[in-house]
Amino acid sequence: MSQASVPVLTIDGPSGSGKGTISRRVADHLGWRLLDSGALYRAVGYAAGMAGLDLSDAEAVTRCAQAVKIRFQPAADGGDTRVIVNGLDATDELRTETAGAAASAIASIPSVRQALVDLQLSFRKAPGLVADGRDMGTVIFPDAAFKVFLTASAAERAKRRYKQLKEKGVSVTLVSLQREIEARDSRDASRAVAPLKPAEDALLVDTTGVGIDEVVAKVLAVVRP
Ligand code: DC
Repeated sequence: MSQASVPVLTIDGPSGSGKGTISRRVADHLGWRLLDSGALYRAVGYAAGMAGLDLSDAEAVTRCAQAVKIRFQPAADGGDTRVIVNGLDATDELRTETAGAAASAIASIPSVRQALVDLQLSFRKAPGLVADGRDMGTVIFPDAAFKVFLTASAAERAKRRYKQLKEKGVSVTLVSLQREIEARDSRDASRAVAPLKPAEDALLVDTTGVGIDEVVAKVLAVVRP
């Protein structure tokens, strides 16, 4: 099977829209690979932070993005996939809102995005790929046969992130979380390169008040009507 003929389902949307959970479930169900592109931007932000770089120094952060070694490793106990950044297990650090904000900042640098293109394309392998992100359907896999854009109200997205972070033992307040999410979304949506927006041919799914199983069923129906 040539790479171009490997089917791709893109799932784009803002943070807290349910992308991560839905993408994983759908990939498991289809037996397809999963690309968590947000983890790549988080990993670059993390590596840049570890190297003591100023995140607004585009040249230095770009060199970091070109050199960083990111590995996804299935957890031995069947739990969450571990993300190994330059040899260190950074899974827990990458989940924090600080890592999200750093990722969003470095993701607005065009040459950083460029540095991650080939890595993202390399995930396209048989029997298929579910690609989770902000620009999967618009920039990275514009030829994807299946495209979905998930949305949800900012209040609901903040609530979901709050619950997720609480379960992981991270201490945050709902109000500060909603403020951070709105700031991040507005930066992701207003940047010049690959802004957060639905592809013209994407199916829009509003997940506000909708259960995970129902959303998974809707997304699966796009691939297997
Ligand atoms: O999906 P996430 O919350 O892990 O993404 C973290 C940040 O990375 C997000 O705020 C913007 C950036 N990002 C991006 O610019 N393009 C992507 N395809 C995925 C994430």
